[in-house]
Amino acid sequence: EIIHVLLTGGVGSRLWPLSRKSRPKQYIDLFGGYSLFELSVKRNSSISTKLNVVGNVDNNELSQKSLSKLGKVDYMNIVEATPRNTAPAIAFSAFAAHPEDILLVTPADHIIKEGTEYTESVKRAIELAGEGYIATFGIKPEKPETGYGYIEQKGEDVVAFREKPNLETAKQFLAAGNFLWNSGMFCFKAGVFLEELKKYEPEVFARSMEGWFNNKEGKLDLEDSLKIPSISVDYAVMERSDKMKVVASEFEWSDMGSFEAIYEYLYSQGHPIDDNGNMVIGSENYTAFVGFKNSILVCTPDANLVLSREQSQEVKKVYSNLESSN
Ligand code: GDD
Ligand code: MG
Repeated sequence: EIIHVLLTGGVGSRLWPLSRKSRPKQYIDLFGGYSLFELSVKRNSSISTKLNVVGNVDNNELSQKSLSKLGKVDYMNIVEATPRNTAPAIAFSAFAAHPEDILLVTPADHIIKEGTEYTESVKRAIELAGEGYIATFGIKPEKPETGYGYIEQKGEDVVAFREKPNLETAKQFLAAGNFLWNSGMFCFKAGVFLEELKKYEPEVFARSMEGWFNNKEGKLDLEDSLKIPSISVDYAVMERSDKMKVVASEFEWSDMGSFEAIYEYLYSQGHPIDDNGNMVIGSENYTAFVGFKNSILVCTPDANLVLSREQSQEVKKVYSNLESSN
């Protein structure tokens, strides 16, 4: 089987106040009729033979609603009791599968242009996964973004994988010319992933396994879950494994992870900015910016945010101080 594993457990804290605990960004209908979650299901349904949604108790209802809107009835639903980041989430889907099944793991919060470039890249990744590799999708970098992982490539070989470098390092990577952004999608055999996780993060492996084998109809137990170390798959496996390959990909890709990305996407769609590059999101009111450049004003019914475009990564700090206002 080729299983599309859709990771939808993140809260999107860098998009507060658009994104809330009660309504994470992947369910927001910013993008013309479908949410990012729905677009991801649609994009991968002809490429895969099964769907496995990995989300959590807080957003399960939103996922169910989206899936029924798309007419999806036949899928596996894993419901985390609390987010433990992507390494455990992927581990659950791998434990639920046969070791020889190929998992195509995708985030739920991306914009990707459907088409032959996308399907060709995925086909190649599936071939590599069949040969026992962990395939990543490399995107040509446009700027020294610090919110992404970087893949140092030599053809399809991965020289090194570096998650979220600091700005100086990211600038060096861009200058070097042989680094690609990690798209956040992965393709591998379930068994290969679990071997690598066990090798590099035995505690995460063991606790995730315990958690998974105590699940009730796909629902994880809270007490078990709290024992699982919280770590992303990028740090847990991708930076360390020597089974990595990269498919250099040409499809249009955008991570809607920060207001900087939303700004660029909306701008490309004709959303207005003023002469100093200031943008308003979520309000039709005439707005004047005095003394601001490249700023974004985000308006929602009960909270507003003013930020400088370049500081988009900092928004998660506001979010963590404000968890109660969700
Ligand atoms: N089920 C589940 N449980 N899903 C989760 C959890 C969790 O605990 N945490 C995050 N996710 C989901 C998010 O909803 C998102 O769809 C995906 O996993 C990736 O998580 P992010 O938190 O958005 O990761 P990131 O953006 O910081 O970094 C990753 O993506 C970048 C590209 O967008 C990394 O893979 C980077 O290397 C990559 O460049
Ligand atoms: Mg992200």
